[in-house]
Amino acid sequence: MSLRDPQLGPDGTLRHLLDLDRLDAAMLTRILDTAEGFTGVNDRSIRKVPLLRGKTVANLFFENSTRTRTAFELAATRLSADILNVDLVTSSTTKGESLLDTLRVLEALQCDLFVVRHGDAGAAHFIARQVDEAIVVVNGGDGRHGHPTQGLLDMFTIRRHKQRFDDLVVVVVGDIRHSRVARSDIAALVTLGVAEVRVAGPRTLLPAEVESLGVRVFDDLDTALVDADVIMGLRLQKERMSGATVPSGAEFYRTFGLSPERLSLAKPDALVMHPGPTNRGVEIAASVADGPQSVILEQVTWGIAIRMAVMSMIIGDRASVAAVEAAGAAGAAGAAGPAGPAGAARAAGDYAGGDAGGDAGGDAGDSVGHSTVFDR
Ligand code: CP
Repeated sequence: MSLRDPQLGPDGTLRHLLDLDRLDAAMLTRILDTAEGFTGVNDRSIRKVPLLRGKTVANLFFENSTRTRTAFELAATRLSADILNVDLVTSSTTKGESLLDTLRVLEALQCDLFVVRHGDAGAAHFIARQVDEAIVVVNGGDGRHGHPTQGLLDMFTIRRHKQRFDDLVVVVVGDIRHSRVARSDIAALVTLGVAEVRVAGPRTLLPAEVESLGVRVFDDLDTALVDADVIMGLRLQKERMSGATVPSGAEFYRTFGLSPERLSLAKPDALVMHPGPTNRGVEIAASVADGPQSVILEQVTWGIAIRMAVMSMIIGDRASVAAVEAAGAAGAAGAAGPAGPAGAARAAGDYAGGDAGGDAGGDAGDSVGHSTVFDR
């Protein structure tokens, strides 16, 4: 049996993106740097680069999604790919067609990349094994197994604000047992060398042998929050619970909800994150979700650059993507100042060889960078 990671080609480059467990820190950093290189595209007046011109991306969502699906669509559009949105929730699969037959139909449409969201753990791996060699697969979330692009956009958001990982205390709180986001986040945080990853939640919502993931387990959120730099909330995955493993929303909020009082136990500049959709008054207080420490909507925004990075690294022109990565690495190294969208525009302007000022300078710089970095 081959132990080779099916995500990597023989030369070690990214071939599929199925989970984060087996990607090393160098590959995760390459993806984050490439995404950094793309952040400026979102701030330009014409938000398009021709890196995937002539390629077709198919969004195969067998399960509902708002953020992931739209971010992949925007990312593909900004890379100039053709995008096919297949509504599989109400498609032939619900009329009895097997998954394999549906895949054969989609192969016949000659797509280059499948983005797959599925309710079953392992679905993305299965599809990557079954499809024609010419097609690559990006996991958009499979059951409770993994959500690698969510994990990556979370790491990107943390890096933008904190610059480094090795001195951070990160608390992941809530329904870790049923959460693919928690699995991808924990894998990436541990690989990137976070000083301490803490998990807190009711024992019924923690996976068996959770410590083996490289985390410290807390039964009490108040204690877990002391000295925290980042707090990652999770949605209660009721659709993946087979029994009544949590008493009620009110009870959960009382014991593990992120209230303003609890937030004050963390560091004053602690980031509040959540993959969404948020259940206000259950996992998190509305005032915390909307408060100054919340980066929940920023996470959604960075999801576009991360998906641009992943898709272009897999099916884009290598030299062009390497140039974006190098520019992004330089931008990240110089982004030790304020984070957020203004910082993104500045970094984009910097790498493009243009003015390092705000939006106007970023646009001017981008037009230079566009011809040197993207137009190949
Ligand atoms: N975070 C996330 O996966 O959201 P969607 O289900 O809306 O894609």
